[in-house]
Amino acid sequence: MSTKATSDPTIFIIFGGTGDLNARKLAPALYNLFLDGWMPKKFSIIGTGRTKMSDEEFRTKLLEDINQFSRSGKAEKEKWDEFIKNVYYQVSDAKDAETYKEFGKRIDAHNAEWKAKANVIYYLAVAPEFFPIITTNIAKAKLAEDKKRVRIVIEKPFGHDLESAQELNKLISSLYDDCQIYLIDHYLGKETVQNIMAFRFANSILEPIWNRNFIEHVQISVTEQLGVQDRGPYYEGSGALRDMIQNHLLQLLCFVAMEAPNSFNAEELRNRKVDVLKAMRKFTPEDVRTSAVRGQYGPGWIQGEEVPGYRQETKVDPNSNTETFAAIKFFVDNWRWHGVPFYVRTGKRMHQSASTITIQFKDVPHLVFPAEATDSWQQNRLIISIQPEMSIRLQVQAKRPGIDMVLNTVDMVFDYKGTYTNEAPEAYETLLLDTMAGDQTLFMRGDQVEAAWDLIMPILKTWEGKKSLSFPNYSADSWGPEVAEALIARDGFHWFTLPVNGNKKAKH
Ligand code: BG6
Repeated sequence: MSTKATSDPTIFIIFGGTGDLNARKLAPALYNLFLDGWMPKKFSIIGTGRTKMSDEEFRTKLLEDINQFSRSGKAEKEKWDEFIKNVYYQVSDAKDAETYKEFGKRIDAHNAEWKAKANVIYYLAVAPEFFPIITTNIAKAKLAEDKKRVRIVIEKPFGHDLESAQELNKLISSLYDDCQIYLIDHYLGKETVQNIMAFRFANSILEPIWNRNFIEHVQISVTEQLGVQDRGPYYEGSGALRDMIQNHLLQLLCFVAMEAPNSFNAEELRNRKVDVLKAMRKFTPEDVRTSAVRGQYGPGWIQGEEVPGYRQETKVDPNSNTETFAAIKFFVDNWRWHGVPFYVRTGKRMHQSASTITIQFKDVPHLVFPAEATDSWQQNRLIISIQPEMSIRLQVQAKRPGIDMVLNTVDMVFDYKGTYTNEAPEAYETLLLDTMAGDQTLFMRGDQVEAAWDLIMPILKTWEGKKSLSFPNYSADSWGPEVAEALIARDGFHWFTLPVNGNKKAKH
């Protein structure tokens, strides 16, 4: 969450340099930061991986990646040439000490050339089994001694369960200072997610009503049309609970439920978020049965295209018990939120790709209008739309123009597109810039990750211990399994969906 770029010379060493994350997200983000003038004057990006490749081959690959994935479209020759001369490739074996000596030499050479000590950012865009070996070898090679200048960025998944996350935390904290560790949850870099904080803590009208006295329930929904594509092997060991809820959705919940921080300081903000996770009600086995449901997609059609079911995806067990959908009812047991349910759901191959947070307020205490005036009556809702639409809408009742007194629901909308002309940066741009600036506000902290694992462990254990007999239980292009509807319907509510692309009214 930087307010300005750093001018310190910076070296990025990207493990997994030839991988998908670098191609789709990191390289385009760095290039866009460069285009927008956020990169320091002196910088170097060293991609590294097992594949043998020359600098030239790596540069050609990145150009293709950027042309395909950059939000700014195809690279322009002049700018590209200026950028790419700072990019190098080093073939490496993460287990071999020589690899790290080589990095040391490159860093020294840059420092000598720039006549300055550069910040060095090691980015681990690799499979999690490499986290321990790489972090250990960087430290062993004494490449992380300068606590002020050396940072290590670790992608999710951070651990596979509570125990493995604790182990990893223990190892990394024994090698690095907290100020050097940047655990990524890319949702925290999303413009609209950061705006939840601005919205809540920069507007005085919200705080008095942001609690159990006025809010009836909260929904956090992240649905995707995509299936698992070619990520079968990863997803088989993960599932929706680990892949989305343990991290992204619980982080969104923290932003909604956290207390106001005393200042906009990384530790302060992260403390307030971890307070929420610690206040969340732990599940008993009975709670798992009544408050958590899972689903797996079967085959179907999406936008005129026939798509396979999860069990038919590449490298997926034809009898897989992995959930591709999860819906859970959480409670935050503190004064502010006592008794307010937080319904959270996520799924792949759903009818719509949309991430929204809906706050439903309590009903009016007494209805003064006649029944015929209130046919389409709806309690007030605040809908924070994170993607693809970026908006905040407050739904209120208003009188429809005409001689009759007829009420209906209208939206008061703040829409990014209509309000701002500048394009929002991608989450990774924000997060990479923050890493360069040494700002950890939008990064996870080890204790947060552990608290989130701790919370979902009873659900994970129950689901892993008991094969679902109903899978697949929802078809592609649907809103998920019926059990998810039942979960919320039992409390008298239903899942809200916002029509894509600017339709003014929410369906309900
Ligand atoms: C990733 C998950 O962390 O987030 C993916 O591993 C998921 O399975 C993705 O598709 C969703 O991110 P976004 O930014 O597209 O909402």
